[in-house]
Formats: sequence, C-alpha cells, structure tokens
Amino acid sequence: MEIPDQLDQLLSCRLDVGPKVVKPSTIVIFGASGDLTSRKLIPALYHLYQEKQLPDPFRIVGFARRPKTDAVWRGELLEDWQKNSPAKGWDAGTWAAFAQNISYCEGEFGDPAAYQKLEKQLSGFGQEALRRNLVFYLATSPSQFALVATRLQSSGLLNNGETAGFKQKLVVEKPFGRDLASARQLNNELTRFVSEKQIYRIDHYLGKETVQNILMFRFSNSIFEQLWTRQSVDHVQITVCETLGVGGRGGYYEETGALRDMVQNHLLQVLALIAMEPPVSLEAESIRDEKVKLLKSIRIYDTGAVSDAVVRGQYAQGTIDGKSVPGYRHEEKVAAGSNTETFVAARFLVDNWRWAGVPFYVRTGKRLPVNSSEVRIQFRPTPNVLFAAQCGPRLDANSITLRLQPNEGISLHFNGKAPGISMEIRPVRMQFDYETEFGAYTPEAYQRLLLEVMAGDSTLFIRRDEVEAAWSIVDPIRQFWSTQPLKTQELYFAGTWGPSGSDDLLARLGHKWRMTPRVEIVARPANEKL
Ligand code: BG6
Repeated sequence: MEIPDQLDQLLSCRLDVGPKVVKPSTIVIFGASGDLTSRKLIPALYHLYQEKQLPDPFRIVGFARRPKTDAVWRGELLEDWQKNSPAKGWDAGTWAAFAQNISYCEGEFGDPAAYQKLEKQLSGFGQEALRRNLVFYLATSPSQFALVATRLQSSGLLNNGETAGFKQKLVVEKPFGRDLASARQLNNELTRFVSEKQIYRIDHYLGKETVQNILMFRFSNSIFEQLWTRQSVDHVQITVCETLGVGGRGGYYEETGALRDMVQNHLLQVLALIAMEPPVSLEAESIRDEKVKLLKSIRIYDTGAVSDAVVRGQYAQGTIDGKSVPGYRHEEKVAAGSNTETFVAARFLVDNWRWAGVPFYVRTGKRLPVNSSEVRIQFRPTPNVLFAAQCGPRLDANSITLRLQPNEGISLHFNGKAPGISMEIRPVRMQFDYETEFGAYTPEAYQRLLLEVMAGDSTLFIRRDEVEAAWSIVDPIRQFWSTQPLKTQELYFAGTWGPSGSDDLLARLGHKWRMTPRVEIVARPANEKL
C-alpha cells in the first residue's frame, strides 16, 4: 500500500463525526430461512457487531415457517455462511457472543397468532427500546409484503410515524413490483401503514463503496465536473457483467429476466448518479430529488423504437473458465422454450440541457466472459487535424473509467508518446486504485445499508417516485418483448459477450463496446440443444 503524503492526510475531510448513532433496536427478518439471510444479512450484521457499530443492546429475530429452536437456527446460519464464502474475519468467540442475540420465531406470514407470539418474544427482551424500535426486514417474495405489513399493523407492532420516541421501519428487497402498475399498488398498500420515511427500498448497488464514490468524484473535483456535459462527452457505457448463470434461481429468474433484475434498478441507479445535476445539499431528499429528475428525463421508447434501441439475449450452452456450462433453457426450473432474457444492452437518451444527444449505453448479462462492472465516460475525439488526421480511428479518444468491481478504482485514458526515436503514439493510463491507496478493506454493501436503516438515513435507499420512474422506462421494453419470441440471433454462447445485436447497437452511431471479442451463433437446427 502506498503511504499517502502528509498533506493528503491533513486535507482529508470527514463529513460524519464518529460512528453513526444507532438506538437500541431489534431487527426482525421475515423469510429468515432464505439464502439472503445467511449469505448477506447475518454476515453483514456480524461484521457490524465486530466493529462495534451495532447498538447496545440489539436483537435479531428470524421469522419463518419451519419449526426450529434458536440453537438450531444459529447453527444453520453459521454453516450456510461458511459454506457459501469462507467467513473472512470470523472468530469463534465473537460469533458466540454475537449469536446470543439471535433468536427464531416460527410462524406463517398470514397467521395472526404468529404475530402475537412474536410480540411476546420481543417483550421478553426486557428493554422497551428492543420491543418498539423495530426494523422489519422483508426478505420474502414481494407478494407477501402487504400481508406481513397488515399483520404487523393489526398486532400493534407497526405504527405510522414515531410514537414516544420509538419508531418502526420496513426494509423491502427488490423486485419492488413487476411493472409500474404493481409497484404503485405495492407503494399504496405499504403507505397505508407507515409513512414513506419509514420505508427503506434496498438496491444493494447503492451500498457499494465505488457507487457511493460517484457523487464525491463528480462534485468534489472541479476538473472532471467541467467535462461532464454534452460538449465534451461523446457517449457513456455502463457495463455490469457476470460469469455466473442463474444457478438455483431459475424460478425467480423466469419471472424477472435481466431487464427487471438488473436494468430497472442497479443500472438505472448508476446511470442516475453519473448523469444527475448537483443536489442543493447532501441531505437524502435533495440527492433523491435529483435522481428522480434525471430518471424522468430519460426518453421513454414507444414499442416501435424498442427494437432500434434495446437488444436482448439469452445464453446457450458454452464454456466458462474452461468448463462446459448448460444453456439457460437447461437450468433448473426454467421452461424448455423460455423467452426470458439473460442479457440486455440498451441505448438510453437523457433529454435534458446537459445531456441532449449523448447516448448512454447500458449492458448487463449472465454467463459473460468476465465478472466486471464499470462506467466508461468516452470523450469526444480531437478535431481531425495533426495526429488525428494521420492516425484516423487508431487515435484513441480520451476516457475515464470508473471500475465498480473488481479492482475498484478510476482511470483516465489519454494518449502519450511511446519512448524511442520513432514517432509512436499510444494510449496510456493514469490510475487510482482503491487497494493501493486505502488498503484492502471494502465493507460489504449490506453492512453499510443495514447500518443506515438503523440510523434512519435514507440517502442510499430508493424513494417511491424513483421506483416508479424506473418502471416507466422499462415497461414499454418488456411489453414489446412479450409479443416477440426470442430469435436464434438473440442467443449467445455462454462465455461470450452477448448477441451480435449488442455490437450493432453501438455501431449504428459509430461506437464500440470496450472489451468485446465475438463468437457468433449462426442459425442452428431446431432440435439442437441450446
Ligand atoms: C442482484 C441480482 O440484485 O444482483 C442478481 O438479483 C445479480 O441476479 C446480483 O447476480 C449482482 O450483484 P453484484 O453485487 O454481484 O454485482
């Protein structure tokens, strides 16, 4: 790790003073036997405990259908956690102390008696704060959100607003609705019981360090902010690619597809942060106001425009890391003739003063060659004189890449002279790398997000109007696709960069994806396994 010079240390400016103030509270996880609880929530809470960031006292209650004792549940949580990822920083003594605060409540989501049992369990914790400062984490299927909220309210556990200094919060996992109509309905149902300020809609991308850094990068550096306009920027590329397939989530994915799973939330959120105007303050509402304004200025395509601006794809059998992997249609719980997309590339246009005419390309897919997420700001080329006149397209245009994961960092690409007596120009990079600068520590997104919920800060959560604006953008795309069966040229081999249409989408305006070697799938016999 590089040692920052002393002046850098003197100039660092901490905006929050000390650890977050979090009142004693209980987190109740509905759908506690799901994989999210053991893979993400419990490890995140454990690390917060280890770093002494959890309130003292705190409790965690898992609410789910299957009967089991507290001890059995604690054992299962640990086993799942360690099976899924080697528990980094885990220590037996700390776990034992942490696990004492975890208990289990067996119950059906619709059964009023189960909520009475929960109430009794909470009362048994002694302190009033542990019974009334409650975070209800709804890690259930979205169809259960309203039911759980209704039961919580009628059992007196969930109140609108703050009463006697105590407050309850609802944390809601995506997908938040299936489309604009269902998202509105869900929003209406939840706000019957609690105020908007008590609802925390999670998009874990907003908890990522590098995504949070976008605002700092943009609004604490005058050199970059001045370039952030249509006058300098040619286009923007936002890529989130994964080598993983859908694995055991075929059932969920069949209902969702990449558009709802990734574009409606993570990619549009990143786009909003990259393109929004400076907020009037750092308050949650000011930042969210600007994001909504930006989302509302994204052009909504009518169905006729979708095929020109959006491309979908689905992975067929192929090779990842030297191993053969099945095609999507052969994954567990996936229909043999499924039309669900596992890849999306889209050109969005932001119709506002700053960005008019600048394409924002987004791309995401499963079973792509690498795990990598980045935002690339591609600047306009130089005028066609001097070096450009001689080198033509081989003179690289400047760009800034914000690498969200892995190898988190930011790099500026420009041209330089290769040393030697010949006249040779080649792209070079100036690079900021998180690990080199700050060491290897990057907290898990959920760790940050859970702490923010307990502290009552909604900056990193999605407001109702943001969700609705994002659905308005993706709904027409979904509607158009639902009338079109997937074509052979929309399939791509696992381990490649998506269907050829993804490259054509950029080529139409003379652009090119960064990192895209290609393998075509030509028309195949109908009976061949894909
Ligand atoms: C989730 C999606 O929200 O994000 C998954 O449901 C996807 O399908 C995941 O794999 C990607 O998150 P990350 O943090 O690994 O980029």
